[in-house]
Amino acid sequence: MDAPPEVNQLRTAFRAELERTAGPRDVQDLRDRYLGRKRGRVVALLKTLAGAPPERRRALGQAANALKQEIEAALEARRAAVAEARPPAGAVDVTLPGRAPAPGHRHPLSLIREEIEAIFSAIGFEIVHGPEAEDDYHNFEALNMPAAHPARDMQDTLYLDGAIPPPGGEGRPATLLRTHTSGMQIRYMETHEPPIRIIAPGLVYRRDTPDLTHSPMFQQVEGLLVGETVTMGDLKGTLEHFLRALFDDDTRVAFRPSFFPYTEPSTEVFITCVFCRGGGCAVCKRTGWIEILGAGMVHPAVFEAVGYDAERFTGWAFGVGIDRVAALKYRVDDIRRFYANDLHLLEQFPS
Ligand code: DAH
Repeated sequence: MDAPPEVNQLRTAFRAELERTAGPRDVQDLRDRYLGRKRGRVVALLKTLAGAPPERRRALGQAANALKQEIEAALEARRAAVAEARPPAGAVDVTLPGRAPAPGHRHPLSLIREEIEAIFSAIGFEIVHGPEAEDDYHNFEALNMPAAHPARDMQDTLYLDGAIPPPGGEGRPATLLRTHTSGMQIRYMETHEPPIRIIAPGLVYRRDTPDLTHSPMFQQVEGLLVGETVTMGDLKGTLEHFLRALFDDDTRVAFRPSFFPYTEPSTEVFITCVFCRGGGCAVCKRTGWIEILGAGMVHPAVFEAVGYDAERFTGWAFGVGIDRVAALKYRVDDIRRFYANDLHLLEQFPS
């Protein structure tokens, strides 16, 4: 004879729950829910017997009691099974999913630096590095910056040795933190003969108060190319190629006359604003252009300082700030954020 439907339902529910028990605690919980004196489901079913019609009472009672015994036995068997399955103390469960180590992320400034290095490597430039603690000669003097030049004013330069240079520059302390990577032009030419094609990436330091666009420490990449027939046209073409590769193919590049002591002529280089594509916006101050780097033809005085024949050789140089490029490319409105180690920013970059 088939068991009454309410008994069958309860059996099905119990079996499903039994399947899901994993430890002794689960088994005990299950027992409470089915056989518990107060709220147990089987006990509740038995209590309904009194109200059942007499002709059903017997069959229902028998079936319910049979289920109760069945559940007792099943719970007992399950308890034994899960107890046995328990690993010995200290055992390692090799089936657990591993804990993946959280990988770090590439720093946005490193990404830009590597991109610039890749662009110039591909067209034959060598990547060179030099000291951040630099001497006055390489940072200023040999770059055609006379002692009284404003760029070497102690306001801009962080001197080492704790010494403060006297006005006029005589008896200046020997060491400083390089204010730009341009000193690498001198260092490289002192030890190499043309033809030269180098870029020199690295940290530079200035006595600046940090704000949205200034940091006392930032990164530059210097470029230098020297040969016998080098022209301003080469500079233009190379920088156009560089800036289009770095930003995008539609980027337009403009050159405006400028002044740097170590180049003649000198130029400031602009690209179409990355925000408004040249239409004019707040970032580019409605001009449609953003200044991106300084460049020019190497000044003959610089060649003389390194013992090159300035009649025979010509060359060009440029310097670009990585922080500024990164701020534009990644739309970061405050360059101080590149040095704050804020994971909200850093985790957005690939690992
Ligand atoms: N040294 C300059 C700066 O720090 C950048 C620069 C301008 C580098 C012109 C150059 C150059 O090589 O030719 O702002």
